[in-house]
Amino acid sequence: MSNLTATALSCANIAFIKYWGNRNNELRLPSNGSISMNLDGLFTRTTVSFQPSLPFDELIINGREVTGKGLSRVSYILDLVRETAGINLNAEVMSENNFPAGAGIASSAAAFSALALAASRAVGLTLTEAQLSRLARRGSGSASRSIPPGFVEWKMGTGDDDSIAESIAPPEHWNLVDCVAVVNAAHKKTGSTEGHAIAGTSPLQNARLEDTPRRLDICRSAILNKDFETFANIIELDSDIMHSVMMTSNPPLMYWQAATVGIFHAVREWRASGLPVGYTVDAGANVHVLCLGDHAREVEKRLREMPGVSNVLIAGVLAERRRSCNLSNCGSISFQRAGSAGFI
Ligand code: DP6
Repeated sequence: MSNLTATALSCANIAFIKYWGNRNNELRLPSNGSISMNLDGLFTRTTVSFQPSLPFDELIINGREVTGKGLSRVSYILDLVRETAGINLNAEVMSENNFPAGAGIASSAAAFSALALAASRAVGLTLTEAQLSRLARRGSGSASRSIPPGFVEWKMGTGDDDSIAESIAPPEHWNLVDCVAVVNAAHKKTGSTEGHAIAGTSPLQNARLEDTPRRLDICRSAILNKDFETFANIIELDSDIMHSVMMTSNPPLMYWQAATVGIFHAVREWRASGLPVGYTVDAGANVHVLCLGDHAREVEKRLREMPGVSNVLIAGVLAERRRSCNLSNCGSISFQRAGSAGFI
């Protein structure tokens, strides 16, 4: 066994067909399948070190110690790893991400996929991509999708063992770019975990779930055929349906700001006039505007001119052979790949 320490790097992803609601909250078994793309440039780097001298697990994120719920969620994944490896040591977990502060980019996918990789490697387990995806899912559903490379589908599965994500196309398949328009949110948002738990209170959730296999088929085919028009229409429909469920749940969740809606209108006008763009929004006010790579600069320029947009982040599909990252203090680092995530 190694010195019980390992470091891993993993990325965020953006869902085109969204995960919203669980059929089992503890196991994070989703109520529907989802499709996403891994994002280049939005990384978490995590070091896990199991140490005999530690009286309890410790979590440090971006240099600050985290206790309470955040720590419990991490310990839950460490417990699964300890159980599989048959060890009983506490761990220090140090995590850092390079997402600009206040950008409102969900970090749980990058965080829990990096944790699953680093913790399992630290204890000497060599897990398959499927096993890693499953372990990451137990920490955060969307993290299951940051393990395989490129364009990814997370299948509902029948249970804990087969609810895992798989690559449906490699990163080089299609040069899509995510231009994230950062909108200043005026009020604190409800996190995804709380949102999943109340999804079933919306009278629209069942209709959403019944129609999801159809939307998954359309989205998967649009990606495989590189059919941007169909892709843009289906991601906007899926995002709008999920937000309809959010807005009509109890309590209602209204993530959109005025600027969010302003961007929806602009994106549709731009598309109608020939610019290949489409929008999708997660559990927040920021708008992910997807476009073909050749148009990213133009889309960025237009978004920066929109009222209420404080920043625009640009992220392509994470290349499978990428060997460096932009973390502030790591310079150019090498890592071995394991799907989209990898070990440093
Ligand atoms: C709206 O994966 O963040 O971004 O499992 O509770 O961590 P937890 O939820 P999370 O939910 C993501 C919700 C979403 C849609 C998506 O990414 O599919």
